[in-house]
Amino acid sequence: MKVGILKENQKVESRVAATPDSVGRLIKLGLEVAIEKGAGELSGFPDAAFESAGASVVSSEDICAADFIFSINLPSSSVLKKLKSGSMLVTLPGLCEDDGTFKSLAENKVDVLALERIPRISRAQSMDVLSSQANIGGYRAVLEATVQYKRFFPLMMTSAGSAKPARVVILGVGVAGLQAIATARRLGAQVWAYDVRPETSEQVESLGAKFIELDLGEEGSGEGGYAKELSNEAKKKQQQMLSKELQKADVLISTAAIPCRPAPRLITEETVKGMREGSVIIDMAAATGGNCELTEAGSVVVKHGVQIVGHTNYPAMVAADASSFFARNLVNLMELLVTKEDDRLVQPDYMEDEVTQAALVVYQGEVRF
Ligand code: NAI
Repeated sequence: MKVGILKENQKVESRVAATPDSVGRLIKLGLEVAIEKGAGELSGFPDAAFESAGASVVSSEDICAADFIFSINLPSSSVLKKLKSGSMLVTLPGLCEDDGTFKSLAENKVDVLALERIPRISRAQSMDVLSSQANIGGYRAVLEATVQYKRFFPLMMTSAGSAKPARVVILGVGVAGLQAIATARRLGAQVWAYDVRPETSEQVESLGAKFIELDLGEEGSGEGGYAKELSNEAKKKQQQMLSKELQKADVLISTAAIPCRPAPRLITEETVKGMREGSVIIDMAAATGGNCELTEAGSVVVKHGVQIVGHTNYPAMVAADASSFFARNLVNLMELLVTKEDDRLVQPDYMEDEVTQAALVVYQGEVRF
């Protein structure tokens, strides 16, 4: 059985779904591996390194003939059309915007394993690309803030006097938010954090940050550890109650998200107007509309003296490690997708396992989400 790794086709993407190390592990599992020419170029993994690890370096056409096709983002429609019947595409397809792509794949008998649907259970933790990538994103977002902010993060004593530590506020305490808290703390900032799910307060405090508590008169926790959308009344209340806290910040890092919904608007223009000149907002939710109403996705803008950063792919800015973690998650997943029987690789019954059962959004000609 053959695994094919595609070169990513998006402008803001520099990661790749395999590394020479992961290729070696896939081969050990008994798989053949092919990778598209130049796929690892932007993440620092040259073709020669993949070849040394045992992969063949081929054209995208040849990748389409593989049994399992790995990519981080959904491949272009021209590539999707060429995937062979009976193959499985393993990717982060972005299920919230379906323009009929999945129906066509089902018609062509191409299965799709959506990595975002891997259940968040202990057994599947080692396959959870959402977590591995959000972790890196949270780290990189803080580094971005240190560059954009024209002052120090830690308390600094110099021969010319001292500088006080930066006051950093993190909005949204999921995986990215928790890593942002830890990174900002390591850099010596004073950190506050807020999440609509009250159960996150303990996690915030365990990292040495302070939790901002708001009484919205409404429960913010939804299913599966995610937040639920608030009523319009509670949203307004939240913006107003947060405003004063946010205006005290030197740096705001916002990560608030609800699956398949526009990003919650937590930072209004009025709030930005009241922030100190030179302060910085890193809006990690820029791609889904932004937590700040002045964010421009893909750009850095200055509004009312505040630097607002709308980059949309922080993991790609740490391309080598982000690729390595993504690739390791996929090797762990492959251990579930193929098993050895009498020295022969076979595909187990995917509907018998809760992980593959949940993640196979297109299976044997049927769209299942
Ligand atoms: P995410 O990236 O989807 O969302 C970020 C955060 O935004 C969430 O904490 C959410 O509560 C918060 N948020 C949403 N609306 C908000 C609002 N109006 N105001 C303030 N905050 C708001 O989250 P992520 O990182 O994917 O984690 C989601 C949950 O899944 C967490 O509870 C996490 O601990 C859990 N998880 C479990 C795993 C496992 O068991 N294997 C692995 C990873 C995460």
